[in-house]
Parts: sequence; structure tokens; C-alpha cells
Amino acid sequence: QESVPEKIDYVFKVVVIGDSAVGKSQLLSRFAKNEFCIDSKSTIGVEFQTRTVTIKGKVIKAQIWDTAGQERYRAVTSAYYRGALGAMLVYDITKRPSFDHVARWVEELRAHADNSIVITLIGNKADLVDQRAVPTEDAIEFAENQGLFFSETSALSGGNVDTAFFRLLEEIY
Ligand code: GTP
Ligand code: MG
Repeated sequence: QESVPEKIDYVFKVVVIGDSAVGKSQLLSRFAKNEFCIDSKSTIGVEFQTRTVTIKGKVIKAQIWDTAGQERYRAVTSAYYRGALGAMLVYDITKRPSFDHVARWVEELRAHADNSIVITLIGNKADLVDQRAVPTEDAIEFAENQGLFFSETSALSGGNVDTAFFRLLEEIY
């Protein structure tokens, strides 16, 4: 599914949001560079990375935007969401509060992003099975009620990361 294209058919902007320390930046570097950093620093402002993929024969440049979960480090909200076709809303399966805040992040998306934005709810750190604090069923129920896609991922192991991003990009397409 990978290629080094000469010509890009589409650029898809995707935003990654969720509480601080849930693993947003590491999910992004796993998807964009297949890298993981254990002592990752909190994001300040906005960063983005890209990965070019082929979906249904079209060359798509995924431009993935990442900002701080912490309010005081966050970018200007309206600019961050402008033109976004997809969103990855991330919580940490070992941190119940990060899941309890997901509803607020959905509200922010509904307020600032385009109505047609495709949203995937991501339960990250699925490798930490012994510390699980959010049952998968709770997340599935929330996602169904809100009309979101849902995946559990591990940026550390890489498990499900590509699958989740590809599903989002295919859905946008
Ligand atoms: P902010 O930039 O502050 O909003 O945080 P963030 O959501 O970008 O979190 P970040 O990606 O920096 O990761 C926070 C911490 O969680 C780091 O210590 C990572 O190493 C760790 N981490 C991220 N993903 C995983 C994962 O899938 N499994 C495990 N075990 N640790 C992870
Ligand atoms: Mg970050």
C-alpha cells in the first residue's frame, strides 16, 4: 500500500486531539516514520508530519496535525481545525479521566470543525493490558452513540496504528 509517488492526487488534513500524555505525538511518529520515543516531551504549539499512501489507486498525502493536550500550550483552535477532513480523538486506556474527557473533545470538534469531518476514537496504550482502566465495551458504546469509528492502538508496539489511520483515510476518500 506504500509508494514513492511523483504526483499527489489529494492532500488530506487530519487533526489529532485528546488529553495530554495519551500518546498523540507518538501515534503520529509511529504512523509517519515508524518511530517511537519512550521519553516523549509534551507538545508545545502545533506540529505536523506527513505520509504519502495509496488508497484505491490514488496517491494521498496525509498531513497529520498534532497539538498540545494541555490548554496552555494549545494552538489557536479555529486555525487548527480549519480544513480538517479527519480527526483522531485519542484517550489512554489506562487513564479513566482521559476517556471521561472525550465527550468534551467531541464538542470542540462539532463547534470548530467541518460538519462532515470523519472522527475516529482511539484507545491508545493497548500494550498496557494490566493497567487497563477503560473497558473496550464502554468505548464501543460511546463511539456508536456519537457515530465515531473506534480502534484500540499501541504506538509503542505499533499495533493497529496503520490500520486505524488507513481506515480513517479510506473513509475520508
Ligand atoms: P501532549 O503533547 O502533552 O498533549 O501529549 P501526547 O498526547 O502527545 O503524548 P506523547 O505522545 O508525548 O506520549 C506521552 C507518554 O506516553 C510518553 O512517555 C510515551 O512514551 C508514552 N506512550 C505513548 N504511546 C504509548 C503506548 O502506546 N504505549 C505505552 N506503553 N506508552 C505510550
Ligand atoms: Mg504531544
